[in-house]
Amino acid sequence: MSPVSEQETPTGATRGLILGIETSCDETAAAVVAFGEDVLSSVVSSQVDLHARFGGVVPEIASRAHLELLIPVVAQAMVEAGVSGADLDAVAVTHGPGLIGALLVGLSGAKGLALAWDLPLIGVNHLEAHLYAAQLEHGRIAFPQMVLLVSGGHTQLVAVAAPGEYELVGGTVDDAAGEAFDKVARFLGLGYPGGPAIEEIARSGDPQAIDFPRAMVHSGFDFSFSGLKTAVINHVRRYPEAATEDVAASFQAAAVDVLALKLERAAAEYDVASVALAGGVAANTPLRQRVALDAELAGLGCSLPGRTYCTDNAAMVAAAGWHRFRSDGPSGLDLPAVPGLRLPV
Ligand code: KG4
Ligand code: ZN
Repeated sequence: MSPVSEQETPTGATRGLILGIETSCDETAAAVVAFGEDVLSSVVSSQVDLHARFGGVVPEIASRAHLELLIPVVAQAMVEAGVSGADLDAVAVTHGPGLIGALLVGLSGAKGLALAWDLPLIGVNHLEAHLYAAQLEHGRIAFPQMVLLVSGGHTQLVAVAAPGEYELVGGTVDDAAGEAFDKVARFLGLGYPGGPAIEEIARSGDPQAIDFPRAMVHSGFDFSFSGLKTAVINHVRRYPEAATEDVAASFQAAAVDVLALKLERAAAEYDVASVALAGGVAANTPLRQRVALDAELAGLGCSLPGRTYCTDNAAMVAAAGWHRFRSDGPSGLDLPAVPGLRLPV
């Protein structure tokens, strides 16, 4: 099917309204977004409490919770936006990457709704959706842009020449940044998810108390966080009396240092007009402050999505879906869930 423009939509609806659905990990989310920018509703039901006692996401529990929550969450998003199925232009849904069972629940639900409402289906790449999160609040963005995408499953530097045109500049060779926060937090007995817990306790610690390693900081654009995690574990085993606040603050300082320095170097090398943060770790205050300051000093624009749009949500899925719909048209109803889906570079 040929791509569609803002004016002509296949269903005859003219409000540019996309229902977005996200179930790739442990958030069940639905949102209604107009023209890829204007958020009419965004509902996120977090399963954090269900998984917390296991110290991480349990895939089977996630799938079952998505099954229970999906329809109520979609209904709430529709009610809050004041729309019915007839008002929508399409249903966009994350079809990868993520947990296979979790993805299948959202994808099957979206297919059912698209069929019932006679709407096009749009498959969305979860990573691409994170890249669109900044646009939800910043509107027009200065391109080319260097985005640091840091979540529980991914750590990537992505050069965005224009919306939908990506070049993968660097990635992690072992743990993702969020994974490092989660594993260190678990080791320190701070609970799950680890990122917010570390940020909280680090506020009363000294970030310079322990000089943890900044791996690969001056070479290339790839990241490695597994050595940092091991260094934290070794330090605590060797100095059990070390204050947890200081360990957390020093770990966070090392992680932020590496992330910000690589983003800064990549932005200079690719001569971009702006930088952006995306993904759950982008909610981290020290990282946000550091990246904003570096960008200001370098004379670059800086897009920092609000915290609610950093972590998994469906507004970013609807926004990415709107752009994919316009460039590629709808997906087939045989669209598969793809747990290892990569960015369309
Ligand atoms: O993007 P996201 O919600 O889910 C994935 O697609 O992975 O990211 C979740 C990750 C978790 O590892 C969590 O610990 C981390 O983001 N995170 C943070 C903060 N809030 C969430 N990391 C550091 N500081 C935070 N404030
Ligand atoms: Zn995510």
